[in-house]
Amino acid sequence: EKAGFDHFMLKEIYEQPKAYRDTMMGRISDDGRSVELTEIGMTADEIRAIRKIHIVACGTAMHAGLVGKTVLESLARIPVETDVASEYRYRSPIITPDTLVIVVSQSGETADTLAALREAKRCGARVLAITNVVGSSVSREADDVIITQAGPEIAVASTKAYTSQLIAFYLLGLFLAETLGTKDSAFIAEVVTAMHQLPEQVESILDNAPVLKQVAENLSKHNNLFFIGRGVDFAVAQEGSLKLKEISYIHSEAYAAGELKHGTLALIEEGIPVISLITQEDLYEKTLSNIKEVKARGAHVLGVVNEGFEGEVAKSVDELFAIPKTLPLLSPALSVVPLQLIAYYASLARGNDVDKPRNLAKSVTVE
Ligand code: F6R
Repeated sequence: EKAGFDHFMLKEIYEQPKAYRDTMMGRISDDGRSVELTEIGMTADEIRAIRKIHIVACGTAMHAGLVGKTVLESLARIPVETDVASEYRYRSPIITPDTLVIVVSQSGETADTLAALREAKRCGARVLAITNVVGSSVSREADDVIITQAGPEIAVASTKAYTSQLIAFYLLGLFLAETLGTKDSAFIAEVVTAMHQLPEQVESILDNAPVLKQVAENLSKHNNLFFIGRGVDFAVAQEGSLKLKEISYIHSEAYAAGELKHGTLALIEEGIPVISLITQEDLYEKTLSNIKEVKARGAHVLGVVNEGFEGEVAKSVDELFAIPKTLPLLSPALSVVPLQLIAYYASLARGNDVDKPRNLAKSVTVE
């Protein structure tokens, strides 16, 4: 059932190109110029009435939501707040009938996420679910449901479900943008074209897995490391850090690159590994200056960078991993893949049970 792979996690990492294609399938018009989300029952008037969006989820699904916030705000120009589901209800959030609440859950059974969904409905908000499981509690109780077509995810560490959630957010963002007229059809067609290239681009990253295995084996000798990035790179950094923690048991922290000097820089010492994401062209100079801050204090930096920028980044980092070029908003669907592989190989190098990490369950049905 692992189809020749040593672990479900590795199999699921390699299934991502298919998961992307399946999640896009049937949701893009034949001419590639518009997104068709027939599963969304909201009328154009109802969509125009949305004043704000709350994205609520746990763990990795929350990290997809962090990217989702940037995607929806930039495409649909609707303000978005994100909350982890275990915090949401207890901060008395301002949920009004013109709020769209988006819950994200692979399993569709996470207790806190389900409770958040019920609270949102009680307050009169419309709830849209992004879930991987047809017939799950979340899918049954939400008003609208986008099913991610990742297929069953067995490994406790989520990989293809996360990236399929990103695809769902891109589709939703484009759909809302089209309805609201916040983006023109040429722009939408450009994003759709770039999305169609993602599966092959992931394949080319997977072809370089041996490089990442080597990186991970070196990292596995450390007990502490950092992930840094800005914008969506920071969101991906948080997911990379969680993935590494949960299966390799190596402590890591994800920091917004510009925040380091406000405290955490004190932890940087000789030899500490720092994984830096540098995929956003407009932020790239700024992130490079943060890399210089950690390098000056002895950090060993791996830069995850867009193809084409290697030359300029190379002088500032110790190691480079290049990902194929895509639109800035889409880069999380590529840049997370090397981080998944690093987590996998670090766990393997440490002799851990990759698919069933200690203390964790695949579906958390208690609050
Ligand atoms: C991490 C992981 C968890 C889940 C979280 C939410 O790899 O898998 O953080 O993402 O427990 O689960 P779902 O998406 O099923 O609600």
